[in-house]
Amino acid sequence: MIAELQNVSKAYRAAPDAPEQRVLSGMDLSIAAGETLAISGPSGCGKSTVLNLLGTLDEPDAGSVKLFGAGVPYGDEAALSALRATRLGFIFQLHHLLPQCTALENVLIPTLGGPTRPDPDAALERAKRLLNRVGLGAHMDKKPAQLSGGERQRVAVVRALIREPGLLLADEPTGALDAASAGRLMDLLMDLNAEEGTALVLVTHDPALAARMSRRYRLVDGVLTAGD
Ligand SMILES: Nc1ncnc2c1ncn2[C@@H]1O[C@H](COP(=O)(O)OP(=O)(O)O)[C@@H](O)[C@H]1O
Ligand SMILES: [Mg+2]
Repeated sequence: MIAELQNVSKAYRAAPDAPEQRVLSGMDLSIAAGETLAISGPSGCGKSTVLNLLGTLDEPDAGSVKLFGAGVPYGDEAALSALRATRLGFIFQLHHLLPQCTALENVLIPTLGGPTRPDPDAALERAKRLLNRVGLGAHMDKKPAQLSGGERQRVAVVRALIREPGLLLADEPTGALDAASAGRLMDLLMDLNAEEGTALVLVTHDPALAARMSRRYRLVDGVLTAGD
């Protein structure tokens, strides 16, 4: 398993004196290398919380999170950022590209600096290859404002995959796209999953997109239930 949540619970307080709101209640989830799974459920049920736990962006109150066979090194910021940079990819509803950088520069940002920095020439070659692969070969030198919404999301996908992560976490990545662009982005995510072997966890409200994943879950009352 590349990711395992075991008996994970998480609660939040809107303010220090506000009542505790339980979001996850003893939730289990195991993800094997290369597999695809969808998480659906109403707004506020905790879908992003699950992705944040898988992405080491949040820590559970109880239970364990294992990634790539090891416990998450909570509290060790250097180890956490190395783990995020090298083995995890993130895509969100909004692209979060830097407006002043070109598509190519945005894709290369995760490869700059830090102790885990990959070889710059290899990174540049992979960035160009992937941008070509997603149909953006002619748009590499454009800035985000010069790209369509679908194109910007494709740049965000390439940025997420540039370090060859084992796990791609996608939080409603098509939520801001029209149906045609959403379908094309999904086609691409499925193809890249097959080509790169990157496991994909997709949070989506769209049953048609969820249906394309090999496993589907609904988050209900703080636990995952199998099914559509
Ligand atoms: N950092 C936080 N502080 C306080 N409450 C939070 C925090 N993150 C999430 N919540 C609350 O937890 C619940 C689940 O949030 P979230 O995981 O974002 O749901 P979803 O992604 O399914 O819409 C929501 O009620 C949200 O307001
Ligand atoms: Mg959410």
